[in-house]
Amino acid sequence: MTKSLLNIEDLIVSVEDKEILHKLDLEVKEGETHVIMGPNGAGKSTLGNAIMGNPQYSIDGGKIIFDGEDITDLSPDKRANKGLFISFQNPIEVPGITLGNFTKTALEAHTGERLRLWDFKKEAKKVLEMLDMDPSYADRDLNVGFSGGEKKKAEIFQLLMLKPKLAILDETDSGLDVDAVRIVSEGVKIYKEQMGGSLIIITHSTRILDALDVDHTNVLVRGSIVASGDRKLIDEINEHGFEKYI
Ligand SMILES: Nc1ncnc2c1ncn2[C@@H]1O[C@H](COP(=O)(O)OP(=O)(O)OP(=O)(O)O)[C@@H](O)[C@H]1O
Ligand SMILES: [Mg+2]
Repeated sequence: MTKSLLNIEDLIVSVEDKEILHKLDLEVKEGETHVIMGPNGAGKSTLGNAIMGNPQYSIDGGKIIFDGEDITDLSPDKRANKGLFISFQNPIEVPGITLGNFTKTALEAHTGERLRLWDFKKEAKKVLEMLDMDPSYADRDLNVGFSGGEKKKAEIFQLLMLKPKLAILDETDSGLDVDAVRIVSEGVKIYKEQMGGSLIIITHSTRILDALDVDHTNVLVRGSIVASGDRKLIDEINEHGFEKYI
């Protein structure tokens, strides 16, 4: 039997005193790929933020179990060190810290070991080349002046360097040109197949899913999961929209 990796039970989440997620349940098993679809404002990014422990999102009920441990009250950095990763819908710019240093520091925090700069640079160069990004991006301040597509690729760079147990990708494909979608999708495939990663993919466009095996599709409407199914559900939504769930 496959091990349960993430288990969310009866989760209630509020933002600024407004309840957004209502008693939500979700289970992701090791190696699975879950897709979350839903109308704008349904609470998809809220769910990602709550799983990562963003303090703006208050957990008012229920619990989050990750890799056998109750992480409901854990700080975001501890969650990250346990192997959780989120690629944000709108990645923030961090002047003064380079993409390379940021990733190296995170990697050292996860493993508890100092990394030799040379080893890190070698691996970083390999991943950046795979993403069709010039190796000099590692020396640029994190996301500062990056184009929309470059920011998304920088998130995939971190994903492939950090090799988390579970990655939440929040609209990682939005705003990418056709070639970039293919490259990002290839990166996600490597994460899943070669690193044994598990995924929650939040998306409106399903282009990024073309090359991936999807195990479960969850439809989130007004803070609740109203339908779940396999890959066929994605095609159905693409064809008929969310109307029947609203
Ligand atoms: N930090 C925040 N401050 C105030 N309101 C928020 C915040 N985060 C989310 N909300 C509100 O919670 C609701 C759900 O937002 P959320 O970002 O989770 O939607 P979503 O499903 O990701 O939508 P989209 O498809 O447009 O990305 C919205 O009404 C939004 O305005
Ligand atoms: Mg969102």
